[in-house]
Amino acid sequence: MRLSLRFVLPLMLVLAGIAYAIIPLVDQLTLRWFVHDLDVRSSLIANTIQEPLQEQLVAGNRAKSREFFNRITQGERLYAVGYCASATGKALASRFLPAEIHCADLDRWEGPGDHVFPSPRGPLHVAVKPMSSEAAPAGRLVLVHDMSFVTRRSEETKRYVFYFFMGLAGVVSLVTVIIAQLSWRGWMAGMHALLRGEGLLRQPGPGAQPKLPGFNPIARDLQRLISELGAETRARDESQITWTPESLRAILQGELRGEDVIVVSNREPYIHQRKGEQVEVQQPASGLVTALEPIMRACSGTWIAHGSGSADREVVDRHDHVAVPPDKPAYQIRRIWLTAEEEAGYYYGFSNEGLWPLCHIAHVRPTFRSGDWAQYVAVNRKFTQAVVSEAKTKSPIILVQDYHFALLPQMIREQLPDATIITFWHIPWPNPESFAICPWRDEVLAGMLGSSILGFHTQFHCNNFVDTVDRFLEARVDRESFNVSFGGKLTAVRRYPISIAWPPEAEMLQKSVPDCRSDIRRMNDLPAEHKLGVGVDRLDYTKGILERFRAIERLLELNPEWIGRFTFVQIAAPTRSGIEEYEHHEAQVQALAAHINGRFGHQGPPPIALKVEHHEPREVYEYFRAADLCFVSSLHDGMNLVAKEFVAARDDECGVLILSQFTGAARELPEALIVNPYDADQCTAALHLALSMPAAEQRDRMRLMRGLVAEFNVFRWAGRMLLDAAAMRRRSRLIDKTSRTEA
Ligand code: G6P
Repeated sequence: MRLSLRFVLPLMLVLAGIAYAIIPLVDQLTLRWFVHDLDVRSSLIANTIQEPLQEQLVAGNRAKSREFFNRITQGERLYAVGYCASATGKALASRFLPAEIHCADLDRWEGPGDHVFPSPRGPLHVAVKPMSSEAAPAGRLVLVHDMSFVTRRSEETKRYVFYFFMGLAGVVSLVTVIIAQLSWRGWMAGMHALLRGEGLLRQPGPGAQPKLPGFNPIARDLQRLISELGAETRARDESQITWTPESLRAILQGELRGEDVIVVSNREPYIHQRKGEQVEVQQPASGLVTALEPIMRACSGTWIAHGSGSADREVVDRHDHVAVPPDKPAYQIRRIWLTAEEEAGYYYGFSNEGLWPLCHIAHVRPTFRSGDWAQYVAVNRKFTQAVVSEAKTKSPIILVQDYHFALLPQMIREQLPDATIITFWHIPWPNPESFAICPWRDEVLAGMLGSSILGFHTQFHCNNFVDTVDRFLEARVDRESFNVSFGGKLTAVRRYPISIAWPPEAEMLQKSVPDCRSDIRRMNDLPAEHKLGVGVDRLDYTKGILERFRAIERLLELNPEWIGRFTFVQIAAPTRSGIEEYEHHEAQVQALAAHINGRFGHQGPPPIALKVEHHEPREVYEYFRAADLCFVSSLHDGMNLVAKEFVAARDDECGVLILSQFTGAARELPEALIVNPYDADQCTAALHLALSMPAAEQRDRMRLMRGLVAEFNVFRWAGRMLLDAAAMRRRSRLIDKTSRTEA
């Protein structure tokens, strides 16, 4: 409105100026018309009175002629009439013939020219008309008209002209305001769409017409500008080769104005367990925790998670907070307490018997129960309340982690509309057909689309997600920008391959590789030069541990020279043991290990050392450093950080990584020996190759892989998400600003 006024006022002034300039012109024009009319009228009167006047003159009756003149000047406009027989005599005239008009100087009034005579009474029109030559007596008639009516008319005309222009100004202004408002709204809508990255240039749907054809060239320019800005940000990103905790802190302070970071995950980074009189602190076996923990150390803030340890309640304050890491606190955990019923339905049920097998496609049927779903909804709501209570500002940055919280983004969005919600899905996303079997698929998708940014490890998973949304929701999917517009909100679906902290903590690499080799061998009763393979996983059916063992069995069948010379240590962290499928799986793994050891364990140490127990990260690193090879054979894995940890542990540039092609990591570490875990012979060949690989080749491969993990570390993973979030916040601030201007 303000904008419209700014336009209308000058317009009205311009029109008033035009009116002001035009009025004198109109005045002159009308004056000319009136003078012409009076000339014509004077000729007419002269012709009319000529005959009776001559008769009276012939009769010599001057008094009668004067009376005749007085009579005809009684009308409204003819002011005076006079007759001059010659230039020397006195005029025979009616009552009011001005004294200034003499017979001697009638020439000035005759013919074309200025006939207006300014008398004290007002302007008069003087016309001199000769009597026709045959007439006798001849002479000239003087006809004087009162021109005061011209002044009156002129005033009226001026008034009308003025009113006309004011009216015109009003109409033009009104039309202008309406058009300006309409086009401003349209332009703003286009602008908003563009800034939201909805791609104005493309048609919204098949057969639909572009809404703002005139906007397209501007849109193209703006889009180019935006993508150039994006490219610039990326360039800055790429050039920052070493991503460190400091880089993250700088982004938070600079780009995100020191906003608070809140992480939400089911698994907590530190678990307090009661061991008799003691309380022990454990770091759980979870790729999610491995990745997020260094981020939180760098960013501070609050990590909201399920308090699952037996001593967790003993160490929190009255707000359920505990500062961690215990030796050097940098952030706080806010623990959420779940009832056994909630844990059964939300964690074991819907999350791990439903979504986990659904997304992994590892040939374990997902199980969906409505009771589990109800608990899942309720627990998501419970965590939402915790997020809201932990938020210190209206626009916090919330990092929602994993499939336990698909509904959380939408629930948070309802309560904190300005929050920046970055959701990361740590596990794969299946194709739409597979996902379709989830009875609450629409709710899950809608919940996730409450996020500002939704991250997956690979582009393949992004594609699957976007396809799934396209198939099942009334959402607008932009396949070029990978933005999904749902319920009036935009979600950017992006690939952010997760990683680990680089460099690893000094403590992890403290013990030298030779010491690790000898200590681990001694601990496991293995000879000093014994070949050692290692696998580190949760005891989960998606990890392909059975397939791994079968490959080892086949190796010993096909290459018996390794019998008694090679042992594979499988560290298997117990996990989700309340679920039947996991119990069954553990039994299978135990049985297969026993079977293989039974077959090949007679000529020396057993080929498989299965350790089903929790190991702290430091112990795991010792195994990594002691091993000749690490075998990651997941049947399906979002990323798999064990592969990257093995690489990080090998600062001696030795050791061979055998890596399943079905992990996200395989896309980043092609120098590993990439295998199909379902192909036992291929895995066997890889094992044999790894065991016999020359040190130089090991070094070449390891060096390349270490370079990649160093560059694409977890600070970069988080940094890229935060930079994207910062850009989004800038855009939405711009949209808000333009909306305010519009109002
Ligand atoms: C996977 C999931 C994580 C989970 C971890 C351990 O990596 O993506 O969210 O924390 O497994 O599983 P658990 O059920 O023990 O937390």
